[in-house]
Amino acid sequence: MSQIRNIVILTGAGISAESGIDTFRSAGGLWEQHRVEDVATPEAFSRDPDLVLRFYDMRRAAIQEKVPNAAHRALAELDAQWNGNLLIVTQNVDDLHERGGARRVLHMHGEHLKAWCTSCDIRSHWRGTLIDRPCCPVCQARTLRPDVVWFGEMPYRMGEIHAALREADLFVSIGTSGAVYPAAGLVRTARELGLQTLELNLERSQGSNWFHETRLGPATEVVPDWVAEVLGG
Ligand code: APR
Repeated sequence: MSQIRNIVILTGAGISAESGIDTFRSAGGLWEQHRVEDVATPEAFSRDPDLVLRFYDMRRAAIQEKVPNAAHRALAELDAQWNGNLLIVTQNVDDLHERGGARRVLHMHGEHLKAWCTSCDIRSHWRGTLIDRPCCPVCQARTLRPDVVWFGEMPYRMGEIHAALREADLFVSIGTSGAVYPAAGLVRTARELGLQTLELNLERSQGSNWFHETRLGPATEVVPDWVAEVLGG
C-alpha cells in the first residue's frame, strides 16, 4: 500500500444493503419487484409519468428513513484522512455516503434528493414528492423529474471519472454486481491504465476476473477492515 497515492472507489447498491436499502439484482431485489421498462426509462416516464413519479416518491421517502452503516463511515474516515487524491464514484442515488461524512463523492447515476427541471435545466434539492407536479423553485414550470439517470441515458460526469482514473494508482469496487455499463467497464479501464484493482463484495461480480484481488463478505465487515489496513499501512 505504501506506493498508493491516489484512489478511485466505485460503490453500488451492496454498500447500502445493510442500511436496509434494497439492491437491484438480488433475489427479492428492486428489479424483481418492478420492471425496469416500467419505471426506469425515459419512455416509461413519457408513457406513464404518474407511475414513475410515484415509484421515485416512495424511494425518496424511504431513503430518508435509513442511516449510514459502518462501510459508509469507514469510507468517510478514509476520505478525511487520505492526503492523496480520492474520489468515491457512487452508482447509488441515496445520500448515505454524504450523511456518513464523506466529502469527495460523485453521483454518476444522479440523486434521489434532487429534482431536475426539464424547462430551465436546473437541479434543486428535493425532499418531498413530485407526483403532485410542484413548481420548479427557479422558473416555476411544473416540469420537475427525478434527477436519476435512467436506462438509455448517459451517466453524469464521465469525463471527471476518467480523469481521476488517469491520476490514480488504485481502483476499488464495492458492492456492485458489475452488470450495468459504463460503471461496470471502469475496472477494465483501470487495468488498461495500469492501476491496482480490488473488489470488495458479498459475491464475485460479473467482472470479477478483471480484479487483481477479490475479498468477499458483507460491506460492513470488509470495508472497515480494508480502510484500517490502508490507513494503518
Ligand atoms: N455487502 C457487500 N455487497 C453486497 C451486500 C453487502 N451487504 N449485499 C449485496 N451485495 C452485493 C451483491 O452481491 C451484488 O453483487 O452488491 C451487489 C449489488 O448489485 P446490484 O443490485 O446489481 O446493484 P448495482 O451494481 O449497484 O446496480 C448498478 O443498476 O439498475 C441500476 O441504476 C441502478 O445504480 C444501479 C445499477
